[in-house]
Amino acid sequence: MTDRIPVITLDGPAASGKGTIAERVAQALGFHYLDSGALYRIATLNALRKGVPLDDAAALTAAAEQLAPVFEGGRILLEGEDVTTAIRSEGVSAATSRVAVVPGVRAALFALQKNAARHPGLVADGRDMGTVVFPDAPLKVFMTASARVRAERRYKQLIGRGETADLEALTRDLEERDRRDSQRATAPLRPAEDAKVLDTSEMGIEEVVKKVLLWWDEAR
Ligand code: C5P
Repeated sequence: MTDRIPVITLDGPAASGKGTIAERVAQALGFHYLDSGALYRIATLNALRKGVPLDDAAALTAAAEQLAPVFEGGRILLEGEDVTTAIRSEGVSAATSRVAVVPGVRAALFALQKNAARHPGLVADGRDMGTVVFPDAPLKVFMTASARVRAERRYKQLIGRGETADLEALTRDLEERDRRDSQRATAPLRPAEDAKVLDTSEMGIEEVVKKVLLWWDEAR
């Protein structure tokens, strides 16, 4: 009955602001929120910790099939340990786009994502929400912003948290992740044919949230 549950998909490149927008839209509609990138990050952290080589597709798949993360009040638990912060490190971010190319890993995480569709509705953010996981969603949004704008946003976020950051290195890292995510054979980053494409380079958060909610009113 998953198809009857309203789903809004929000796909786009790294640091395009999808997470913030998806959470805000979910809140406004009283919907659940799926951060599919977190699942790929969890699979990666788990592989790194268990010493699974990142070029061993069979071992990565086997490890992903065993995953049973717990989402609890904004925290993510992996084998009982709180990994909410650990999965966001730059090291895990870079390694994740390598793990995400493995078709077996994607298949292992598919059911976890499908199960997130619950009443009264779901906002799902990622790379292939509209193309692969929820192809029947009545509203699909593909958010873009230039690599520079995205790197600047990430830079401000890190500095705001009191961390050090290098804008050039962040830009390079984002471009590298975009390249890997867009060029992989399975579920590459691309807009669904019926997706609404939104360039947010010049837009603020409120403006984007409003736009998505307006599209939702028109779509349902
Ligand atoms: O969205 P986030 O930046 O947290 O995603 C981390 C990585 O997970 C992406 O760079 C991508 O390689 C992978 N990913 C994916 N498919 C998704 C969501 C994330 O391949 N639906």
